[in-house]
Amino acid sequence: MPISTLRSMSSNWILLYFTSRATTLSMDTGSSFQQLGMQQHLQPPRQQLSGYGKCSTTGSDPGKNPGKAAECSGGSGIEKGPVPMVCSTPCGNPYAGLVSHLRASWLSGKTRPMEYRVAQLEALGRFLDDKKQEILEATELDMGKPSFEAFFSEILLCKNELNITLNNLSHWMKDEHVDKNLVLQLDSAFIRKDPYGVVLIIAPWNYPIHLFLVPLIGAIAAGNCAIIKPSEIAKNTERLIAETLSCYLDNDCFAVVTGGVPETTRLLENKFDYIFFTGSSPVGRIVMTAAAKHLTPVTLELGGKNPCYVSDTCDVTNVARRVVWGRFFNAGQTCIAPDYLLCTIEMQEKLMPALRAAITEFFGPNPRESPDFGRIVSDKQFQRLRALLCSGRVAIGGQTDEAERYIAPTVLADVLPSDPAMQEEIFGPILPIVVIANMDEAIDFINARPRPLAVYAFSCDSKIVNQVLERTSSGGFCGNDTLMHLTLTSLPFGGIGSCGVGKYHGKFTFDTFSHHRGCLHRNMGLETLNSPRYPPYTQQKLGLLTTTFEVKRRGTCTLL
Ligand SMILES: *[C@@H]1O[C@H](CO)[C@@H](O)[C@H](O)[C@H]1NC(C)=O
Ligand SMILES: *[C@@H]1O[C@H](CO)[C@@H](O)[C@H](O)[C@H]1NC(C)=O
Ligand SMILES: *[C@@H]1O[C@H](CO)[C@@H](O)[C@H](O)[C@H]1NC(C)=O
Repeated sequence: MPISTLRSMSSNWILLYFTSRATTLSMDTGSSFQQLGMQQHLQPPRQQLSGYGKCSTTGSDPGKNPGKAAECSGGSGIEKGPVPMVCSTPCGNPYAGLVSHLRASWLSGKTRPMEYRVAQLEALGRFLDDKKQEILEATELDMGKPSFEAFFSEILLCKNELNITLNNLSHWMKDEHVDKNLVLQLDSAFIRKDPYGVVLIIAPWNYPIHLFLVPLIGAIAAGNCAIIKPSEIAKNTERLIAETLSCYLDNDCFAVVTGGVPETTRLLENKFDYIFFTGSSPVGRIVMTAAAKHLTPVTLELGGKNPCYVSDTCDVTNVARRVVWGRFFNAGQTCIAPDYLLCTIEMQEKLMPALRAAITEFFGPNPRESPDFGRIVSDKQFQRLRALLCSGRVAIGGQTDEAERYIAPTVLADVLPSDPAMQEEIFGPILPIVVIANMDEAIDFINARPRPLAVYAFSCDSKIVNQVLERTSSGGFCGNDTLMHLTLTSLPFGGIGSCGVGKYHGKFTFDTFSHHRGCLHRNMGLETLNSPRYPPYTQQKLGLLTTTFEVKRRGTCTLL
């Protein structure tokens, strides 16, 4: 497709986009759209296919080309000619033009050179530096995120990912040469790390910067174009991303799409080359179903109920501090937070004063006044959480304030498996304790339920920690602490079973967004070496073929 055609369509996709947005303002999530500063983030892509990192405010006015033919790609139909603007689905998909614009940029090859990837990654670093204060403020407004926690999770961990990626990118991008059989000794066999193409990243609200940025770092590093869909529920952060990210990235290759369920549904009708979704398991199912229509590969980072086993032999004070930190960080709205404790009745007795002491030490006598304790993101989440407080008996906390969406750090004792708090992922500042008789029962309890994103085990006896590790299955594992395994970029992070598919962090993110293309470059000469595989077939040729191709078992050579 000639570049000139591409350019002429770029003002049309934005018109379609704008039109579709205007019609959704009455939706549930619509009220936040009106404040989004559409002119700024709905700019048409650059007319030049080069130039990025600067924020232009002089995009062409989408209103100036009304009625012009729109590109109807219906997915990847780049060769199709222009068709009238009013057409039925899939032609009328509001994002089809955007996706095909990004696809054209990807096909142009501009995202492939390492220098380009480095420049975009460095621009992401500038975004984090320049917008640090705004990020802290937006996450504070969205969920009362303490600035210490926001700095650590939304900024520091993202910058670490950037530094690690920039430090290792040339190494990761290199072709990996592999072992060869006898026939191919003079040839070159290697794994090429190919970008997928145009990828979609859908992020949740709980760590609204981290959970779109870390996947985006890998998507860029691997040479892809990307559409980012931040969560509409963290509305202040959504607005910040929508208004400012385009000022840093090449707008021909990276775009932010905002909106709620209706917008995301339409977006998912398009064909992407990879979808990276972080969110709940029910929505993960919807995303995977939409991806299946196009056979698009996915990474799904979902939630789960993470058990935390505390054995009878352990340092109770340290266990309490580490559990309280992990459970109440971000007011419990963390997918790998310890969701419930499993311990004996004696240990529950011993733990309670230690948990109370840790909560008071961290958040003072009235956690509501602590600047270090967050709030629940939305009224809907608040109501859902408040309904869980009737499980077992409230041993610590239990206070709530609807106006502030405050729920005190709460510990529920003697919770039964049939109680409401044990029916769903808690995702809030509530810690139930389920009493079991011993380690075996704890392991059976864990294995009788869907596989969690993390299993935690505390014990002074490393054999017990190792038993829990050996005999359970989960996305990740951390012995004698909570959450900390996530901070290591050398460890893959991801789920298993109903808590997800795929893994990321550090090099794993780069690999997630790279197709590992198996390549062989052969030598044109030495044809005699190739003759045994050609017809007419003979027994002698078969013998030769067997000797050159056969793989032998190690350590089974016969003494002849
Ligand atoms: C990343 O690298 C820069 C440049 O060396 C350095 O200043 C910064 O401290 C590093 N880490 C983070 C988290 O920014
Ligand atoms: C990063 O690259 C260095 C060499 O430059 C290497 O030693 C290190 O293992 C790499 N790390 C990762 C995560 O690939
Ligand atoms: C857990 O901590 C205890 C006490 O420090 C230690 O003895 C034990 O080896 C640790 N367990 C593991 C698996 O490291």
